[in-house]
Amino acid sequence: MITLDTTNLHKVDSVNGISVQELQVSASEIESDLTKIKSRGQGFYEILDNQKLFDEITEYAQKVHGKYKYIVVLGIGGSALGTITLQKSLMHEFTCQLSKSPQLFVLDNIDPDYLHEAEQVISLPDTLFIVVSKSGNTIETLSQYFYFRQKLEQQNLNLSEHFVFITDPKTGLLREISNSENIPAFEVPENVGGRFSVLTAVSLLPAALIGLDFRALIDGAKQARESFFSPDIAINTAYKIAKIQHSLYLKGQHINIMIPYSSKLAPINEWYSQLLAESIGKDGIGITPVGAKGVTDQHSQNQLYHDGPNDKLIMFLEILDFKNHLVIPNYYSEHPAVNFLKNSSFNELIALEAQGTKDSLTSQNRPNLSLQIPALNEHSIGYLFFMFEASIAFLGEMFNVNAYDQPGVELSKKLTKQYYERKA
Ligand code: PA5
Repeated sequence: MITLDTTNLHKVDSVNGISVQELQVSASEIESDLTKIKSRGQGFYEILDNQKLFDEITEYAQKVHGKYKYIVVLGIGGSALGTITLQKSLMHEFTCQLSKSPQLFVLDNIDPDYLHEAEQVISLPDTLFIVVSKSGNTIETLSQYFYFRQKLEQQNLNLSEHFVFITDPKTGLLREISNSENIPAFEVPENVGGRFSVLTAVSLLPAALIGLDFRALIDGAKQARESFFSPDIAINTAYKIAKIQHSLYLKGQHINIMIPYSSKLAPINEWYSQLLAESIGKDGIGITPVGAKGVTDQHSQNQLYHDGPNDKLIMFLEILDFKNHLVIPNYYSEHPAVNFLKNSSFNELIALEAQGTKDSLTSQNRPNLSLQIPALNEHSIGYLFFMFEASIAFLGEMFNVNAYDQPGVELSKKLTKQYYERKA
């Protein structure tokens, strides 16, 4: 279970922090927001009960087990960022070449050099491409699909053996192609949008194919869902986070820094940034997400957080029990530069550096909170994914914005199309 520590928030002065009283929210207020969320008809909290999908994923993973050396995800935004988080947080950082699981590449951009380099590494007969697009119409993803489709055709490879789609059940070009050309496809439920889709086939299928325990992810998410439905703020962590973000926004803290004290967990920042920015950035309102990494960014950004404008909430993510315990050997133990390290470990050092940073920020009246994660595994990541989705749902209601659309990104798409049409 992940716990939220708000002690430092209450120590910060009342202009920049939040008192214990401000977080005493009545059950009826939380219930009212829950009712509003439910009335929006979104499926992000229902998908955790889709047993049929989970069985289909297991069946598919068993069917293709050992068949491919490379799994290549083609997708962008919500169709890629959750999968990247899972891979980076839970797979070995350096030995994917040695691992028995297939190697996973998530191609979430259309940079031609990047695509070419990926192509150089994989061998097409050994590759399964997972084309992920909720809408089925995203031009970046479709262009990637067309590119690799042509390559497969040039080698006379059977498309239905090398492609699987994850898309809307009814609409979009990908769905049409799947139907007309017999390409296997998984569904993203109609009422689940891209950035809320990590706990659907979108990320569960790639996770299963590289050997992650996707059912444990779902179990973690379900545990977070239990507290999401609670009208008690002491239990409803998602509500509490949203309440803090909202109250501080009203006090001028318009930037949220998320700083996992873990290299492995740091990529969750990109997933969370999309969720926060695209869901809430509307009608002149919005919180600017910034991703940082502890301890690394103590040597880069921390000066700004400490002494710059006081317009940021800093959210620490701390892992209480790392998989490995690494002792720091006792060299120069009498030297004043390092004598305090005697008989210490990297585990202790990272924890104390986080503590030092939180406390020094607090001493400067910089609001900060800490989410404490017992250990990094499928269960805790599933918990985090759901808890953050739920907190964004609450935040949408607090700001009175529709957290599930993204009208602002339509114009740039329209203009790109117009530039093509003008060229013709
Ligand atoms: O949250 C969203 O809906 C978007 O940011 C999508 O994730 C992104 O645009 C990709 O869309 P799609 O999955 O339809 O290709």
